[in-house]
Amino acid sequence: MCGIVGYVGPDEALPIVLEGLRRLEYRGYDSAGVAVLDGGLGVVKRAGKLGELEAALDEEGNPTGSVGMGHTRWATHGAPTDRNAHPHLDCGGHVAVIHNGIIENHQSLRVRLEKEGHSLVSETDTECVAHLVEEKLRDGGPLADAVRAAVRELEGAFSLVVCSLDEPDALVGVKVSSPLIVGLGDGETLLASDIPAVLHRTTTVVPLDEGMLVEVRAAGATFTDLDGMPLDPAPITVDWDVARAQKGGYETFMRKEIDEQPAAIRDTLVGRMVGERLVLDELRGSDDALREVTKVFVVACGTAFHSGLVAKYAIEHWTRLPVEAEIASEFRYRDPVLGPDTLTLAVSQSGETIDTLEAARHARRQGSQVIAVTNTVGSSLAREADGVLYTHAGPEIGVAATKTFATQMVSQYLVALYLAQVRGTKFPEEIAEVLTELDQLPAKVERAIALDDQVRALAERYRDARDVLFIGRHTGYPAALEGALKLKELSYVHAEGHPAGELKHGPIALIEDGVPVVAVATRCHVYPKMLSNIQEVRARGARVIAVATEGDTEVGALADHVLHVPATPELMSPVVVTVPMQLLAYHVATMRGCDVDQPRNLAKSVTVE
Ligand code: M6R
Repeated sequence: MCGIVGYVGPDEALPIVLEGLRRLEYRGYDSAGVAVLDGGLGVVKRAGKLGELEAALDEEGNPTGSVGMGHTRWATHGAPTDRNAHPHLDCGGHVAVIHNGIIENHQSLRVRLEKEGHSLVSETDTECVAHLVEEKLRDGGPLADAVRAAVRELEGAFSLVVCSLDEPDALVGVKVSSPLIVGLGDGETLLASDIPAVLHRTTTVVPLDEGMLVEVRAAGATFTDLDGMPLDPAPITVDWDVARAQKGGYETFMRKEIDEQPAAIRDTLVGRMVGERLVLDELRGSDDALREVTKVFVVACGTAFHSGLVAKYAIEHWTRLPVEAEIASEFRYRDPVLGPDTLTLAVSQSGETIDTLEAARHARRQGSQVIAVTNTVGSSLAREADGVLYTHAGPEIGVAATKTFATQMVSQYLVALYLAQVRGTKFPEEIAEVLTELDQLPAKVERAIALDDQVRALAERYRDARDVLFIGRHTGYPAALEGALKLKELSYVHAEGHPAGELKHGPIALIEDGVPVVAVATRCHVYPKMLSNIQEVRARGARVIAVATEGDTEVGALADHVLHVPATPELMSPVVVTVPMQLLAYHVATMRGCDVDQPRNLAKSVTVE
């Protein structure tokens, strides 16, 4: 949520900062702005997407200098206007601040600062930081000390990057809950809220720990804590291929990422099966502790939550442990019964979703073992959890989660099987059998992607629908939820996912002549029940698009359209059946003229509660 990028080095900062922002725009696109230290502070900012800022720069001229920073905003405090765009300045225009997150006590700070004579011109929480730093700099110390002193007065979860005319060769960054990384280049140093923003300059990064402050200069970075004590965090090398963070000839990132699913699944499985055994050393925990587990919680948001719902079925079936999959933002506000005999899986592509992070922190405080399932090496979730299993999906730039959904499910199957292995609830040959099935998923997903033309034709037919229902049973239910989420977030068509058996308890009232219903009706133990549910909606005028198993002829007699996907064991079936639903959402959205990579009101990484 909000993208931050900074550069200090020998080259012109502006093009590097803009390139970083381009790679970060998925974090928010309500406004964008840059500040370059060019003798003064050259600040240009505009409401709207990055293109608006670039047009403004073309018109006004580019500020030149080799120290600069930029911001792309997802609005929280104050409407998306030019004035509320970052960077924000102090009274004298000597200090500039960009910010990700929320300053919770901004209102009282604003009142105090205004009483003391500061003039605040925006409605944002960020601006008070610039004025606070201005105040602290009056004491005459270095910028880093002023930022530390200012941060001591702030409440909330945020990361900041600050520059000042008093130290024109440096940027100061600080992390309090929201992500910030440093990129260590050759004679240049970068700051960013996310790794893709620095990949065009370096693959050596240092993710900041909680409460860490960094002074960034061309020669390198100096890390301290909020008391000024030196720190020495280890850099990591990111093995993401730069090309994987580019569109690579595709119209959109999302379409590319749909096609990358088979490779992402393969990469997630590779090296984790040794012979017939599963080896997950990354979990870092002891197998004894896993044997003591009596209950599992899965906490996550949005698409990641849907993957957790799928995992619930697999974990319960393979380990006989009770599982609760819960929306992370609800989890810690009730009083879940946690303790050392519980295992919490915190699932998050970004590893920075604050709701998931806080749920994981809550679980840890209550003594639960926490395993992170995340796509982002060095993310807060990965570093704070007891163990971590990475989904090797590579960078996902489209706001809609696709390949990370597939790999989140696959990773959780691995955790489930690992639990079964150490707890002895499955024979080794049974585990090997499931691993073989997992190995076949990439090829099956490829065949599902090949439905593209058929799906496009359906999208053409139903693109103007007002409402679309998605129904399924057993693992088809979370798949239906995911199908509905994809359609609504991308195309703004009202879409709902329901357990098919629940329709008759209310939602069936929504069915009238012509309402499209997407039914997940693959061959499994609830298949006959699904056929009945399809007939119920057909009888009331619905147009049914069934996602069915290859070779199935029965459902064709009941549905208006059938999309055939390869037969897959039902616990793993969501990996395959969601693919045509992703494609449907993609095509409907494209036909309706929606921006599929950057849907309105959304951001890729949600770091505010
Ligand atoms: O980074 P996370 O996996 O924690 O993100 C969670 C959700 O915000 C995310 O899955 C969201 O629902 C997707 N953009 C939907 O496509």
